[in-house]
Amino acid sequence: MNRFLTLFIAILISFTSCKNETTTSTSVSINRGVITEKAMVVSARVEASNIGVEILKQGGNAFDAMMATEMALAVAYPYAGNLGGGGFLVYRLADGSKGALDYREKAPLASSKDMYLDKNGNIIKDKSTVGPMAVGIPGTIAGVFKAQKRFGKLDIAAILKPVIELAEKGYNITKKQEVRIAEYDSIFKAVNGKEILYNKNLKAGNTIINTSLAETLKRISNNGRDEFYKGETAKKLVTYLQSRGSIITLEDLAKYEAKWRDPISFQYDDLTITSMSPPSSGGICLNQIMTMIEPFDLKGFGHNSLKTIQVVVEAEKRAYADRSFYLGDPDFVVIPVETLISDIYLTERMQGFTYQNATSVEDISHGKIVSYESDETTHYSIVDPFGNAIAVTTTLNGGYGSKLYVEELGFFLNNEMDDFSSKPGEPNYYGLIGAEANSIAPEKRMLSSMTPTIVEKNGKFYMSVGTPGGSTIITSVLQTILNVHEFELTMQEAVNAPRFHNQWLPDEIRMEPNSFDKNLKNQLEALGYTINESRSPIIGIVDGILMLEDGTLEGGADKRGDDTAVGF
Ligand code: GLY
Repeated sequence: MNRFLTLFIAILISFTSCKNETTTSTSVSINRGVITEKAMVVSARVEASNIGVEILKQGGNAFDAMMATEMALAVAYPYAGNLGGGGFLVYRLADGSKGALDYREKAPLASSKDMYLDKNGNIIKDKSTVGPMAVGIPGTIAGVFKAQKRFGKLDIAAILKPVIELAEKGYNITKKQEVRIAEYDSIFKAVNGKEILYNKNLKAGNTIINTSLAETLKRISNNGRDEFYKGETAKKLVTYLQSRGSIITLEDLAKYEAKWRDPISFQYDDLTITSMSPPSSGGICLNQIMTMIEPFDLKGFGHNSLKTIQVVVEAEKRAYADRSFYLGDPDFVVIPVETLISDIYLTERMQGFTYQNATSVEDISHGKIVSYESDETTHYSIVDPFGNAIAVTTTLNGGYGSKLYVEELGFFLNNEMDDFSSKPGEPNYYGLIGAEANSIAPEKRMLSSMTPTIVEKNGKFYMSVGTPGGSTIITSVLQTILNVHEFELTMQEAVNAPRFHNQWLPDEIRMEPNSFDKNLKNQLEALGYTINESRSPIIGIVDGILMLEDGTLEGGADKRGDDTAVGF
């Protein structure tokens, strides 16, 4: 096609697409995402990004915008945005100090190691994934309040005002939401025993108003964090849950606390990468993989080339084998973190690697306990005008969590209990391997793969990045960082680029379908790798913000979702 015609069409697309909506002082180039001067929010919904930016424009900082964005996602993206789930925050303040907040769900006090097994020791189908027994103690409200209380500037009422308005006035569902809601139509009815707000044969463009959620948010706005854990909302929630057969009590809610954690920080070339520590596996696995691949000339090999894929896949395999055996809630199990991320250990771990053939999983393997992690979660990144940056990943676990919808309160509850290892030795649907370290115990947090990550270059903020995708989260974040750093893609190109994934077991390279060259796939198969393109139509929905050399910000809003970058 004529170069000028291509340019014209690309500009037309960039102006007509809702992917990259901007407020003020923005420009869009062909290969770059939205560019802004001072601040940006990138999230799964335009309404949430807009509300986050509105709070920044009112003088709020990234932590005020976090509360607003996260609550707006709970309204407009109930698939994964939530009050009934949990998440992780990784932050870098303007002064360069970094930290992490764990607001992961916890197992109820009445939970037990074998609670999902029948009398013969077999897993009871669906018990940990659907309905009341799947629900962990939600951490989201505790998390956003703890972060805002420590670092935020605005009043809670000011932050929640636009979110409450969004719930009251409603939002228009997108085509992607229409498809998703239709897929879940029958399971919503089956789990809830009746039609819920989302069982209305909704079509793209229809407006969803959630007055119950608006009322819940008003009470939280008036009474603060404890409204959710000890107040009227807590009582309504527990009454509802127990009427459905849940073991969750008021004591469970009252005892919940979000926890500050030391994040995992490591060097890769001239980058300092900071990511989530246990109970997420994200930071340790990312550290392991990047340390194992650092000695290889990926840039010379080329983006998504045979050699690059081999090196990355073999490092991923080794890291996920370690994940399965060693990782769990650090409050309950001793994790040999120093060893797992040491150069000596990781060099030795890659010893058996050769370009001649795939290393067999038996030569790497560790534990024999299996757990499942779903693909549905959501990530947002925020940079504020004061120089603070955050990366936040939050989840209900499965799409719409346990599917259990608390009608009176207006939100879905998680099915995060399924991220524990229910039973040793049996591959589950996703085939992700876990171990004793991730077995169920009262008040324990279940292992996660969420990898909210901040990258610095030469001591300055460089990138905030993260994604949903269950076990593929870690490898999607990895590839996005490599795409920018090694292969010099723009932030938007980096999040849009085709992705592959290996998690040790099942013994396969998952690839996004119709994205990789047939010849490349044949070469990999000839070396002994199994390619699976049917498992995941998409791998991750990455959102990120990159600081360019001139100090402006580039948003990367993944084309795989309705994700949108907004800023000023
Ligand atoms: N539920 C997905 C995760 O925590 O990794």
